[in-house]
Amino acid sequence: MIKLGVLGLGTVGSGVYEIVKYRSDMLKKATGEDIEIAKILVRDSSKDRGLDVAEGVMTENPDDILDNPEIDIVVEVMGGIDKAYSYIVRALKAGKHVVTANKAVISLHMEELHKLAEENNCGLLYEASVAGGIPIIKNLKEILKINKVDDIKGILNGTTNFILTKMYDEDLSFEEALSLAHKYGYAEADPTDDVEGYDAARKISILASLAYGTHASIDDVLCYGITSIRTIDVVEFKKMGFVPKLLGCSTRRDNSFSAIVEPILVEENSMFASVKDAFNLVDVLGDNLGELEFYGKGAGKEPTGNAVVMDIIDIILKNYSEFKFEVDKSISSDKGNLFTGL
Ligand code: NDP
Ligand code: HSE
Repeated sequence: MIKLGVLGLGTVGSGVYEIVKYRSDMLKKATGEDIEIAKILVRDSSKDRGLDVAEGVMTENPDDILDNPEIDIVVEVMGGIDKAYSYIVRALKAGKHVVTANKAVISLHMEELHKLAEENNCGLLYEASVAGGIPIIKNLKEILKINKVDDIKGILNGTTNFILTKMYDEDLSFEEALSLAHKYGYAEADPTDDVEGYDAARKISILASLAYGTHASIDDVLCYGITSIRTIDVVEFKKMGFVPKLLGCSTRRDNSFSAIVEPILVEENSMFASVKDAFNLVDVLGDNLGELEFYGKGAGKEPTGNAVVMDIIDIILKNYSEFKFEVDKSISSDKGNLFTGL
C-alpha cells in the first residue's frame, strides 16, 4: 500500500483525487500497489467541494502530512511559493518522495530541491509544472540522453492562449476572456502571473535548465505579457492574416543561453496559429532528432491531474533515479541578448 499526502484540493488536487479514486484498478495494474490518499491539506476543510472525501482525510494542519510516518509521497498542488517550498523541503528531509505541479517553486529552487531529493534518496518529479497534460519533461529527459538540445520554443501558458483565442475568434474583450479562463480553472490564483508572462517565463526557465544543465530562473527570462493587447488590435491583426500568440523561447550558443517570453504575430496558417484555447505546443530541437512538437491541453483539472498521477506512478516504479540534475557552472544567461527570434 502506498499512501499519499496531498497538499491542496483545488483544480489540480481534485483532478488528482478523482483519478486516484476512480482509476484505482488501473493504477494497481500499472504499479502493483494499492494507492490511497491518506490525508489532504486545505485552508478550509468545511468547504463543500462536491467530492466524496472520507471522514478524517481532510486536514488544515500540514503536520498531519509532513510529520506522518505512514505517508510515502507528498503531492504538492496548493500553489504559492514560500509555504509550498517549505513543505516540499520538509517532506524531502523526512524522506518522502515529492510530486509537484508548482512551477513557481521549481523555477526558483530547482537546483537545491534536486540536491535535497538526492541526499535523501527521494524522487522529485514536476511534470505538471510545464504545459499541463503534455509529458514534456519526461520526454525532454529521454531526448537529452543522446541529443544536444539548444532550442526550445512554445506556447506554454493556457490562460493567455485561451484569452487570445477568444479575442480573435469571438471578439471577446480581454476581461471577458480572462474571467472565463478563471472559471474553467486555467488561470493562476493571481492571474497577473499568466497575463504578464511570468508563468510562461517560469516554464521556459525550467525547460532551459533541464536542457542546458544550468539553473535558469525567471530573472534570466526577458518577459513581456499580453495586457496591452486589445480586441481592436486583434481584429486588425486578423485583417492582415496574423494571429497573436504568447511564445516562450530559449536558445543556447556555446556557454550562453537566452530566454524570452513575448507576444508574437504568427501567420494564420502556421503551426502556432492552429493552437487554440488552453492548448499548448512545445517545439524541441535536438541535434540528432531535428524538430519535435508536443501538443496537448496545457491547463485544467483532468489533464494536469493526469500529469501528476503519471509522476506518482513513476515514483512508485522508481523511474526517477536515472536522471540526475547536474548544474554546469560555466553556462550562463545573457538576459535575452542572444535571442534571434523564431
Ligand atoms: P487552486 O487555487 O484551485 O487550489 C489550491 C488548493 O490549495 C486549494 O484547495 C486550497 O485550499 C489549498 N491551499 C492553498 N494554500 C494553502 C495553504 N496555505 N494551506 C493549506 N491549503 C492551501 O489551485 P490550482 O489547483 O489551480 O493550482 C495548484 C498548483 O498547480 C499551482 O502551483 C499551479 O500553478 C499549478 N498548476 C495549475 C494548473 C491548472 O490548470 N490550474 C495546471 C498546472 C499547474 P482551499 O480549497 O481550502 O482554499
Ligand atoms: N495558469 C497556467 C496556465 C496553468 O494557464 O497555463 C497551467 O500551468
